[in-house]
Order: sequence, then structure tokens, then C-alpha cells
Amino acid sequence: MLEQVEALMRKHIESIGDSKSLELYEKVPKGKRLRAKLILRIAGQTQEAIELASVVELIHAASLLHDDVIDEADTRRGVTSINHAFGNMTAIMLGDILYSKGFTKLTYLPTEVARKVANSVTKLSVGELLDVELANAFNPNQDIYFDMIYKKTASLIEASAFSAAFLAGKDTKKYALYGKNLGLAFQVIDDVLDITSSSEVLGKPALNDFREGKTTLPYLYMYEKLDVKDREKLLSYFGKDLNKNDSNWIKSKFNETGAVKKSIEYAQKLGHEALDAIKDENVPQLEKIIKEMIERDF
Ligand code: IPE
Ligand code: MG
Ligand code: MG
Ligand code: MG
Repeated sequence: MLEQVEALMRKHIESIGDSKSLELYEKVPKGKRLRAKLILRIAGQTQEAIELASVVELIHAASLLHDDVIDEADTRRGVTSINHAFGNMTAIMLGDILYSKGFTKLTYLPTEVARKVANSVTKLSVGELLDVELANAFNPNQDIYFDMIYKKTASLIEASAFSAAFLAGKDTKKYALYGKNLGLAFQVIDDVLDITSSSEVLGKPALNDFREGKTTLPYLYMYEKLDVKDREKLLSYFGKDLNKNDSNWIKSKFNETGAVKKSIEYAQKLGHEALDAIKDENVPQLEKIIKEMIERDF
């Protein structure tokens, strides 16, 4: 079924009738297609669900093209990112092509779905903007962190779950809540993996977030536990390139404070809340998705 989503995405790009766009699109790494899986598992494998999944994955791919420009990332999913290979301008415009094609195809879906998905992309972009602004200074505030990750990551997953439920005539509220918590858990795990996983496994640079000025949940939890002297030392590393010694110090503090463990436990709690939202819906295949999203190493 995912092959059908893949084929439809390609068809959408082919329909532009521009060989350069297609050539570049084929260089965009495919990824896990988690949002497509989520939609098909909620809505069932109907033509409309496949259409929705193809739109959401085009939009998601567009957001990552722009995200890699913003984050100056040179790899994505283990291969050279489009911005690194072809420059920022190409990555931005290819992102715009995928976004606009996604929105065009969105107009063929029910209005409620189109509105929800389009609105979530506004939130995603506001979230990315917030993420950029937050990188100016160490942010010790957890509410601000959660608001930002809700917008940049969870909102599109929430909209995907809502829309899939809408297409299938299911309870949209319950599925939206499931999607929201799943999305939050997903981003917390993304932030944990930046610390715990190697660059090879991740397919993007490891221990990179803090260097970029991103104060993610594990850093927030660690900061809470540090004494004044260690807090100062941690802050001195904020937004800087780290040598081996610095990285080792940060890693040892993660161990001592249990901040990574606490973050994983929080993601698990969010996973349980997601499942709780749909506990009466009898959909065991959605439990598997939570596990896949939380117990992953890339
Ligand atoms: C990107 O967040 C979120 C969006 C897709 C808008 P990150 O910057 O943390 O994502 P990665 O780590 O590059 O995948
Ligand atoms: Mg990024
Ligand atoms: Mg980013
Ligand atoms: Mg990340």
C-alpha cells in the first residue's frame, strides 16, 4: 500500500511537466513514511486515504527541505541533503514546488480535511520560526519547548490522524488527540536520538541540536538538576562547536542526572496518553505505530 502512496507522489510531481523538478524530487530521500502509515491504518486502504497520504507526505518532504536549509544540515536520512548538494535556493524552491503541489491535490479532498491540513502547515511554519527564535538564547522553559514542538511537528500528525478519521467516518476528536500525543512523543524521541544515537545510524549529525542552539527536553531536564557551577559550564557550550572533551562532559552529565532516561519516560507517557484517547476504538494496529515511533533508533 505504501508503494501506491509512493507512486502517486511521483505522479503528482510528473504532472508538473518539468523534468528538472522530477530529477530533483528523485534525489529526495524517502524516509519512514510514518504519516502515510498512520493515515492508512486509521482510514483503511481506500483510494481517498492514499490520496491524503500522498499529500501529507509531499508536505512533510517540503517541510524537511526547508528545515535542512534553516538548520544548515548537510545530511538527511543518511544521504547528502538537497541544500548541501545543490544549494539553498534549489532546496527552497523544490520545497515550494512540493508544498504547492500538495496544496493543489488537497483541494480534491473534503473541505474539512483540506482546512485541517492547510492550517496545520501554518502551525508547522510558526513552529519552525519559533524554533529559530529560541536558538538565540538558552531556553529553560518547558512550556515554551512543548508549544514549539507541538506546532513544528505534532500539528501535522494531529491533522493527519483527524483527516484519516474524518474520511473513515470515525471519531475525529479522539484520533486528533491520539495524533497530537503521538507527534509530541515523536519529536521528544527525535531530540533524544540527537544525543544517544551515532551520526551513522541517524543519517544526520549527532549531538548537533545544542550546537545549533536548540535547547531540547533532555537539556531542559539536565539543567534542572545541575548545580550553579555546572549550569554555567553547560551554558558556556550553548551554540558552540564541541570538541571530544566537551561532548564527553555533556554525555556524562546526561548519565548522572538521568535526563535522557527521564525524556524517554516522558515520551512513553505521551504514547500512553495517545493510546488512551482511542482505547474504545479497537484498533490494535495503532498501538504498533506508537511502539515504532518510540522504540526507534533513527
Ligand atoms: C523539524 O525538526 C520539524 C519539521 C519537520 C518541521 P528538526 O529540525 O528537529 O528535525 P530534524 O532533526 O532535522 O529531522
Ligand atoms: Mg532539522
Ligand atoms: Mg529544525
Ligand atoms: Mg531533530
